[in-house]
Amino acid sequence: MNYGSHYSVMKKDVLDVLERSYSKDKEIIIADLTFGAGGHTKAMAEAFPKSSIYSFDQDPDAISNGNDFLTKVGLKERVSLIDSNFRNFSNVLPEEILFDAVLLDAGVSSHQFDTGERGFSFRFDGPLDMRMNPNEGIPASELLNGMSEEELRSIFMSYGEEKFSRQIAKAIVERRELEPFSTTKQLEDVCFHSYPKKLRHGKIHPATKVFQALRIKVNDELGVLSDVIAQVIPRLKINGQFLIITFHSLEDRIIKHAFKEWDDESFPIEIVTKKPILPSAEEIFENSRSRSAKLRIVRRVKDWPSKNKYPKKE
Ligand SMILES: C[S@@+](CC[C@H](N)C(=O)[O-])C[C@H]1O[C@@H](n2cnc3c(N)ncnc32)[C@H](O)[C@@H]1O
Repeated sequence: MNYGSHYSVMKKDVLDVLERSYSKDKEIIIADLTFGAGGHTKAMAEAFPKSSIYSFDQDPDAISNGNDFLTKVGLKERVSLIDSNFRNFSNVLPEEILFDAVLLDAGVSSHQFDTGERGFSFRFDGPLDMRMNPNEGIPASELLNGMSEEELRSIFMSYGEEKFSRQIAKAIVERRELEPFSTTKQLEDVCFHSYPKKLRHGKIHPATKVFQALRIKVNDELGVLSDVIAQVIPRLKINGQFLIITFHSLEDRIIKHAFKEWDDESFPIEIVTKKPILPSAEEIFENSRSRSAKLRIVRRVKDWPSKNKYPKKE
């Protein structure tokens, strides 16, 4: 398998935050919830030569590439690669382990996006799958063939903010009567022809938002974020930080609200980023995908006053 490379978004910003907070020779414990091509994990491991890192990925390709990669860069000893959805964070990592830093870099990797057989992109004709873990969940084609017109419209609207959601949902239902959906190109074609003629060749392809919406639905991308925040915050050490990079407003809204919800007297955390940190102009120039990135950080400031070792937010 040729895994390819992935530009690690806001890597410098992440390292700046960590290097300001911890001395290089400290034995810190880190979790990278989204290993991908391992760029952030490697950078953190190198910046903190005595650190131990627990890195998650739910994609079998990322895990098998990651095992070779960690051997090649000599980090096998200090990085434990965990083949799991990060929503299993507290089940997988024993509760005695508390963290100095946890990083989450949301979304799909370049490998997933650029591999036609994974079905994430309409640039290739491939099976309409879109699962980050192809061994779990329901492929996009099944959702598309099974959901009602109203459900489809609502997903395209709420996860894609697609203006022509109604027209596209209607066209999907009509088209699948003739032939069930199985490929990315079938869906691209329906989106394209559902747009008014004069808007079909705009800056954003008519299928872009529908593909984003379906991907979010297939992988429950918003659900896993809410789940993991509630698991990670109680597992931070005092002064431990949770850094989250998101790529669209739906994700960022979830993070912002979840941080605010935790920020009360019974759970003394500090929202480090009142406003999110944005990538530099230089980074956006180097990698246009980073233009929509936002980094938010929360820090645990002292002991939980609760008698419970790991307080749970209701
Ligand atoms: C944007 S890439 C991360 C890139 C990585 N930070 C790097 O520097 O190479 C996201 C990765 O996280 C994984 N991922 C996304 N959601 C996940 C989840 N809920 N559980 C585990 N892995 C997930 C994806 O499979 C993908 O490989």
